[in-house]
Amino acid sequence: MALISNPCAEATPLQPPVAIRACNLTKEFKLAHHAYASLKGLLLSFLPKRVEQLVALNQVSFTIHQGETVGVIGQNGSGKSTLLGIIARVYRPTSGIIEVHGRVAPLLELGAGFHPDLTGLENIYFNGVILGLTRKQVAERIDAIVQFAELEGYLDAPIRTYSSGMLMRLGFAVAAHVDADILLIDEVLAVGDARFQQKCYDKIRQFQREGRTILFVSHDMEAIRRVAQRALWLDKGVLRADGDAPTVVEQYLQSVQATP
Ligand SMILES: Nc1ncnc2c1ncn2[C@@H]1O[C@H](COP(=O)(O)OP(=O)(O)OP(=O)(O)O)[C@@H](O)[C@H]1O
Ligand SMILES: [Mg+2]
Repeated sequence: MALISNPCAEATPLQPPVAIRACNLTKEFKLAHHAYASLKGLLLSFLPKRVEQLVALNQVSFTIHQGETVGVIGQNGSGKSTLLGIIARVYRPTSGIIEVHGRVAPLLELGAGFHPDLTGLENIYFNGVILGLTRKQVAERIDAIVQFAELEGYLDAPIRTYSSGMLMRLGFAVAAHVDADILLIDEVLAVGDARFQQKCYDKIRQFQREGRTILFVSHDMEAIRRVAQRALWLDKGVLRADGDAPTVVEQYLQSVQATP
């Protein structure tokens, strides 16, 4: 088991260096309820709105060491994307600590980090620079990126015309060529066709051999078991389990089956 007894403690010198450390990480969202569903609601809309606090992550603690591939599983709305968003610095935690060591390449939502009106080629530059490369470095890698994405013929079109699979190809191809230390993948691979998915998994395996750190969110438990050594199970924002991937996947599936 990859269980870590006290994730809030500093790593011991015997372990590989820490890539990501979360200590009592909590994220609350404020949800304002509008009562516009009816005419009466609309007329009463000058009244103060009911604001609900939604706890997307609740006191989550873990340590991920360099070179680990960690699956993140849990039902819809359990906080997986919120966690990756905090690691990618899209969100700030409400409380708790998040430490991230190294360059992060996030593959969160399809098209995130891209500009819809720019062409595929312009977006490779745009996204590459956002992810920490210089324009010269992007230029040096452009052939490899284009070749990986297999989007020749579409690179002069604005990406608002791309299909979801094409957006994923472009996003993965850029993220795979920016020398990231930490790769965050939030479900995006699911929209790729079978052959391209296989190509992405081969690339992920190469990253694993190179000792990079990967966080991989998926509802495909087979993929989690295949790719990740370790898994975190989030349940309504709470970390229910942290351990070796087959065990945690089994616990999760049993709980899903036990739920009426
Ligand atoms: N920007 C936001 N504003 C308000 N609430 C949000 C926001 N982002 C997420 N939430 C809420 O936080 C909770 C966790 O959402 P999150 O997207 O992290 O879940 P998830 O585990 O990724 O789900 P899924 O499997 O559907 O992708 C949900 O209740 C969601 O409604
Ligand atoms: Mg999500």
